Amino acid sequence: MKSPDCDIKDHALAEQGQDRIEWALQEMPVLRELTSRFSRTQPLKGIRMSGCLHITTETANLARTLRAAGADLVLCASNPLSTQDDVAAALVACYEIPVYAIRGESTEIYYRHINAALDHQPVITMDDGADLVSEIHKHRPDLVTNMLGGTEETTTGVIRLRAMAKDGALQFPVIAVNDAMTKHLFDNRYGTGQSTLDGIIRATNILLAGKTLCVVGYGWCGRGIAMRAKGHGANVMIAEVEPLKALEAAMDGYRVMPLLEAARQSDFIITATGDKHVIDKPHLENMKDGCVLANSGHFNVEINIPALEAMSVNKHRPRTSVDEYTLADGRRIRLLAEGRLVNLSAAEGHPSAVMDMSFANQVLCAIHLVTQHKNLDNQVHNVPAAIDQEVARLKLAAMNIRIDSLTEEQRQYLTSWQEGT
Ligand SMILES: NC(=O)c1ccc[n+]([C@@H]2O[C@H](COP(=O)([O-])OP(=O)(O)OC[C@H]3O[C@@H](n4cnc5c(N)ncnc54)[C@H](O)[C@@H]3O)[C@@H](O)[C@H]2O)c1
Repeated sequence: MKSPDCDIKDHALAEQGQDRIEWALQEMPVLRELTSRFSRTQPLKGIRMSGCLHITTETANLARTLRAAGADLVLCASNPLSTQDDVAAALVACYEIPVYAIRGESTEIYYRHINAALDHQPVITMDDGADLVSEIHKHRPDLVTNMLGGTEETTTGVIRLRAMAKDGALQFPVIAVNDAMTKHLFDNRYGTGQSTLDGIIRATNILLAGKTLCVVGYGWCGRGIAMRAKGHGANVMIAEVEPLKALEAAMDGYRVMPLLEAARQSDFIITATGDKHVIDKPHLENMKDGCVLANSGHFNVEINIPALEAMSVNKHRPRTSVDEYTLADGRRIRLLAEGRLVNLSAAEGHPSAVMDMSFANQVLCAIHLVTQHKNLDNQVHNVPAAIDQEVARLKLAAMNIRIDSLTEEQRQYLTSWQEGT
């Protein structure tokens, strides 16, 4: 369904979307606090923003906070399969925020939507995977002149942006929201951990207890996935390329081995690396019959799907998010959610409580760009420590958790060097 300022699936889904957005808001106390604070002070008044984010209930609440702070905002999807169509409808109908996103959209429409969001002439971009920033640099350089800067939500986006900055190609400052402690320590670890398992269980309804499950990549997401899979009673193995991460996994109690060895034993293999063709033809050739493959990394390139397609004699879809490939020797490989982020495609993405912190960082960083852009060069910048601490403070307060503070004696002890044994 199309109107001049949106392209969404079905306006009639708005009421359902609104109910779910309100439900999510109950778990987002920090955003509620920022909404009430900034609706009075209007720090983003008149600021044109384009957000390329997963269109979920949590993003809807981020959008409401940005609007309350005065921003003139439009949204498009950051993944063709993660859009919640009811949320898109509610954003348009109930909160008057233009949205260009339809779940299952083709690559062509995906980029058409990104360009529709850029037609808004943003001065701030908010990305989850750097698609707005890269589209501006590749095809819309006219937009650079007015840009104050951008923010980036995820690891893969930050990697792309740092590569641009290293090449001297980045034309405006970007803040790496992903790298805030109050983002990746909680969102990537606990959010991806819980929701990836949720996506796999919803997609397959296979019992994890007693199964052998390999997590590929023991970064922030991988740690969370492994921890939660272990909690389900799975026998968890880790495949890594970084010695320190591999060592950490071993000391956390997991079996660590090359993926080729793990592939022979695994009932499930989950990628969370941000890397390409991590599961490749040799691994596919060695998998057990019935092995389930899922990806929680940003792009759908972690599993070599073209190789899987080429090796298969048959493909069918026994359940909504499962494609079962039959190989020439009769073995079946089950690919979830077409290799796209399984937690967003087969479940609802991260729980609201972690997105509360990630998105509080987004709001505070957008305001930081407005007030500080003149002092920021065209690089990828860390989230200021004061913002990170403020988000942690607000979250603790909302959780009714009080903590101790240093005494004057302790403060002096910790900042001096004279006192010894
Ligand atoms: N599903 C989600 O909702 C969600 C949320 C946050 C981040 N992400 C994405 O997940 C991915 C991982 O993010 P992260 O924060 O954990 O990153 P990270 O950098 O902390 O961890 C990635 C790990 O993968 C390892 N790795 C890279 N190539 C590998 C290979 N070929 N084999 C084995 N291990 C390999 C790296 O050594 C690293 O330890 C990124 O693409 C990120 O954008 C997804």
